[in-house]
Formats: sequence, structure tokens, C-alpha cells
Amino acid sequence: MRPKIYITRKLPEQIIGDLRGDYDIRMWDEEEIPVPLDVLEEEMKEADGLLCLLTEQIDESLIERAVNLKIIANMAVGHNNIDVHSATKRGIMVTNTPGVLTETTADLTFGLLLATARRMMEAEDYLKSGKWKTWSPMQLTGQDVHGATLGIIGLGRIGEALAKRAKGFDMNLVYFNRSRKYEQEKELGIDYLSLEKLLQVSDFVCVMLPLTPETASMIGMKQLKLMKETAVLINTARGGIIDEKALYEALKNRVIWAAGLDVFEEEPVPVDHPLLTLPNVVTLPHIGSASIATRLKMATVAVQNLKEGLAGEPPRNLVLLNKEK
Ligand code: DGY
Repeated sequence: MRPKIYITRKLPEQIIGDLRGDYDIRMWDEEEIPVPLDVLEEEMKEADGLLCLLTEQIDESLIERAVNLKIIANMAVGHNNIDVHSATKRGIMVTNTPGVLTETTADLTFGLLLATARRMMEAEDYLKSGKWKTWSPMQLTGQDVHGATLGIIGLGRIGEALAKRAKGFDMNLVYFNRSRKYEQEKELGIDYLSLEKLLQVSDFVCVMLPLTPETASMIGMKQLKLMKETAVLINTARGGIIDEKALYEALKNRVIWAAGLDVFEEEPVPVDHPLLTLPNVVTLPHIGSASIATRLKMATVAVQNLKEGLAGEPPRNLVLLNKEK
């Protein structure tokens, strides 16, 4: 009998065609609607391999019912949607897709930083809604990016790629990470600071961390109050790292100047979420890695991991407990 694979979202045939000869493939055939939990549970009971997205919460109760499952291949670098501990305990491998999305996500992060600093979305609304009557000296003025200090929280692959972009804008670079990165300090000319100090000195703060029990809500009101009144906070990592209620208060009361958010505690973010009512917030629907080439690469890497795991080889991107993004 051929091993069974369940894929939780419609993927292009050019990606999964490769699997059809050797595996029994079942797939949730929708692009915009996630697989319902009861369907996922039934499919996982039979499957030897699962290819899932960050929209699926693969928790302990699903994992313990998946009696044949050998591998969960996540099509994302972040894997906070999977209970890696429960999977590992049961001998089920978990894989992710690091590397292939680094540059694309850094591009979007820097773009969001520029858009937030220079109020680009607000300016477009201003123009399209007919408010633009004349050029005026202080109209839609923002913050300069060139020459400003960028604080990167989490100097992993994407954090480093962001630092390289910021160098081109003559930014001063500082970072906080749970371990020092001496080589990158030399190469990128980036200085290590404590989190508190970084928040105090940075004009722009970018959150580039994985969501883990240690990083959940690590930016709350106490941390926001340390930031400059003119500071801009950017998050393209995971929403849960920032306490959204505190962020809303801080933005409304101008404790900080603005925020650019590609990720939210709850996704999709409800359209009546208070953060969406503020003019000083730029919001995007989790599109950090969303270039055509990168999404195809992520799917390809997820399939490679799946095949390797099912063939009894160590998959190239095995997630080890406590691995960083
Ligand atoms: C990831 O891979 O973790 C991103 O959030 C989506 O590309």
C-alpha cells in the first residue's frame, strides 16, 4: 500500500504532481478557506504524512489521534502552530521551510518600515478620497529613515537580511538576541544592546523573533513606554509577541508614533479590531513571504521534507525542540 499524504490546502499541481506516482494524495481543495477541524482530524487519523500551513493548529489532541503519522511538514518557517513537543514525544517528525523566504520577508519588512515612517497608506487614502487640495509645508510629514537607528529584536536569518537593507539607508544598527552574534556584529557593524536599552535608543524597532512561550507578549506597555515618542514599531514575525491591547493604547495616546503590522494575535484580524481604526497603524494580511517565487519554493521545500521523512531519511529541515526562527 502506498503511504498516505494529506495536504491541508490546494497547492499548485506543478508542486504536488511529483508526489502522485508514489503516494496516495488527499488534499483540501480550497485556496481561501482553511480545512475544517473535523475534516482535518479524520484525515490525520489515516495519514502517514501531513503537509500543513500556519493556519492549522496541530495540537496534542490531533496528534494523539494520528496513529499512522510519521511527519508533519509545515509550509512556513515559524512552527508555533504545531505542538512540536507532543509530536516529538510520539516519534513524529516536524519540519519547516527556513532559508527560502529570508530575503522576501526582509524586503517586505523594510517596505513596511518605509511605508509606516512616511505614512504612505494614509497619503494614498488622502489623495483617493479627494482631500488633496494643495501642496503644503507640513502636510503628511513622517519620520526620516536614513540616518535613523534601527533596533532589531532577534538577529536570525531574517533579522540579518533586514540589517543589510538598512545599511544601504545609512541607518545605525543595534540588536537584541538571546545569544550574542559576534561574527554578525563585525560583518554588519551592528551593536548588541539589552532589550531595554535597544527600546530606548531606537527610532525604528523591528520584531524578528519566533513565537515561543518565552517571547509571547514580550512587548507590553512597560516596553512600549521605554520607546521614544517618535518611534515606529514593525512586526512581521508573529502577532502574539506584542500585547495588542497595550499597543493600541500606546498608539492612541502617542506613547509611540506609529506601527506597521503584518501579523496579529488572531488571524485574520477581525475587521472591527481597534488597531484598524488608528491612522498611525499600517496593516497587512501576513504577506511577508508572499512573492510568487518564494511561495513556490516554500511548497517545494515542504514536499522535499515530506518525501525524505516518509522515505526514512532525516528530513533537511527537521525542527528540534527550542530551535530559533
Ligand atoms: C513563516 O514562514 O513563518 C511566515 O510567517 C509565512 O511565510
